Amino acid sequence: MEQAKSKEKDKYRCIVCGYIYDPEKGDPDGGIKPGTSFAAIPDTWVCPLCGVDKNSFELVRDYEEVIP
Ligand SMILES: [Fe+2]
Repeated sequence: MEQAKSKEKDKYRCIVCGYIYDPEKGDPDGGIKPGTSFAAIPDTWVCPLCGVDKNSFELVRDYEEVIP
């Protein structure tokens, strides 16, 4: 149950430039509202920093542990 709950908040990292997508913040400049899970982002969305598509993002599993 906890895994399903946290999935909405999963962060994803751009493997090209290191940009991290945080669902809690969204990407207002890219038209993504805060609270939008990565899975719910349209396929037309691209990295705001380097412009690659969603396929170039990977799940960040250790983010919570890295940030105090
Ligand atoms: Fe990027």
